[in-house]
Amino acid sequence: MPKLLLTDRAGGETPLEAPAGRSVMEIIRDAGFDELLALCGGCLSCATCHVYVDEAFADLLPKMSEDENDLLDSSDRRQPNSRLSCQIPFTDELDGLKVRIAPED
Ligand code: FES
Repeated sequence: MPKLLLTDRAGGETPLEAPAGRSVMEIIRDAGFDELLALCGGCLSCATCHVYVDEAFADLLPKMSEDENDLLDSSDRRQPNSRLSCQIPFTDELDGLKVRIAPED
């Protein structure tokens, strides 16, 4: 099974089983990381699923939509590698993906 390497807010690293077809947000949430609130459940209306994605994987990610970009703009914690994890469907190609949960706004 492909894996995703998660860094939580405390800096702890946890490898997570990452089935293709789930979003990165669902994978993190289903592994019990409550600090990723994902309040809207993936409807692209909350920005509480904000993560930083390792730059090495930038080219493999789906292009950011205008709505995702606008929502990320509402965060004071936005960085060049910011993404909303509900907008990244996991694929086998992303095996080894490294993401860090962004600090709370
Ligand atoms: S879960 Fe709300 S925008 Fe991603």
